[in-house]
Amino acid sequence: MAEMAAVQFAKGNGERFVSELLDLLRIPSISTDPERVGDVRRAAEFCAGELTRIGMEDVRLIETSTAERKGHPLVYAEWLHTAGKPTVLMYGHYDVQPAEPLDEWKSPPFEPEIRDGNVYARGAVDDKGQMWMHVKALESLFSAGALPVNVRVILEGEEEVGGEGIAAFVREHGDELKADVALVSDTEMFAPELPTLCVGLRGMIYTEVEARGARTDLHSGMYGGAAPNPFVALAQVIAKLKDEDGKILIPGFYDKVQKPTADEFKAWAALPFDEEHYRETEVGSTELTGEPGLSVMERTWARPTLDVHGMPGGFIGAGAKTVIPAKALAKVSLRLVPDMTPAESFAQYKSYVESICPKGIQLEVRLIHSGDPIVVSTDNVYVKAATEAMHSVFGKETVFVRGGGSIPIVGDFVRELKIPTVMMGFGLPDDNLHAPNEKFHLANFHRGIESIVLWLAALGA
Ligand code: BES
Ligand code: MN
Ligand code: MN
Repeated sequence: MAEMAAVQFAKGNGERFVSELLDLLRIPSISTDPERVGDVRRAAEFCAGELTRIGMEDVRLIETSTAERKGHPLVYAEWLHTAGKPTVLMYGHYDVQPAEPLDEWKSPPFEPEIRDGNVYARGAVDDKGQMWMHVKALESLFSAGALPVNVRVILEGEEEVGGEGIAAFVREHGDELKADVALVSDTEMFAPELPTLCVGLRGMIYTEVEARGARTDLHSGMYGGAAPNPFVALAQVIAKLKDEDGKILIPGFYDKVQKPTADEFKAWAALPFDEEHYRETEVGSTELTGEPGLSVMERTWARPTLDVHGMPGGFIGAGAKTVIPAKALAKVSLRLVPDMTPAESFAQYKSYVESICPKGIQLEVRLIHSGDPIVVSTDNVYVKAATEAMHSVFGKETVFVRGGGSIPIVGDFVRELKIPTVMMGFGLPDDNLHAPNEKFHLANFHRGIESIVLWLAALGA
């Protein structure tokens, strides 16, 4: 029973695994920040170094920059010595979101700290900690002899900015990633102690709307009343995008939306969910919003939505400045669900925004990045083995959920590589992804490693 030896190894080396993770978490690999390109690369090299050390082969960085765009490197590794056994493509991302607002962190985002069995740092759960589970599961299996299946590892450094580099690589070099199934650990468990497989993700289009009014900034006393204000214009545009009931007002936007199946509705209704507890502990607002009559699960997993992330421009310094800014920007994203497509949704959005452009304002609507929505099939041996592996680690039946977030490459795995994806994630609902005080529950880090060891072993049996 090589897998029992591997599990023993993981248990005996758990503390070292965590201390290596802390080293990785100290690298501020913020993919969206041009000043961090060096740190992003350092994180890639850190991962490549460890993959080499544990016994993976052909370990290398794959550059993704082209003449048109600057990209962060992919990390590739393989071990293909079990002829006749399946090949597993293990995916993770080593880039992280920006850490702002910094003053809300109890310990600095890139100085990981362990408190109450959790490690706090930007990227702790999304996705460095979960990616490290993959590496440590492989190390544990190597320590017990050899891997039970063929493995390819692909790590990306720009998931948080849309994943263009990996998408191009999968399109152009799909044959180099040939596998039978992909494993992604970048999602959450539905509740603590509840083993969860994620079987669907929303897609997204991330956009910027730039509004221009006067030729240059103007004194708001001298010109206020005669000159157009681009912030007011953007506010008017945004107010027409979504109504008070959370309905998006773009014509045709819901035409392709698929209703979840009756089986899904039934399964979601059986999940342990208390809306009031969710509002209080996860959202922390006085009320929840969104489409009336739909459950929170349906609203966040199976319905499109629209959010404004920030409106840069104008005067944001301390105190007061009376100015009519010449231009203003709104960062707006829309989440998509099956069977919506980013191309059609963006076209509908753009022409609607242009059609409601206020007087005296020029609008430019730009697409920053996009990803397809997806539901994955659950009717295969890989999913079955995953439910069994997690059952034996957690001692509970595995639940199937969808996620409201997006992982653009999963759609490409299905479409380009034509393989199923198992999304086995070990985050918790209160892990603060993308927010201050992001954490990863260390018990889940260890249980994740064990689950992956058992899953790989089962696929090789
Ligand atoms: N790991 C998340 C996606 C996620 C989170 C899926 C929780 C399911 C549950 C991922 O790193 C992420 O944040 N993706 C971005 C994608 C975007 C920038 C293209 C997102 O969802 O905003
Ligand atoms: Mn992630
Ligand atoms: Mn993320």
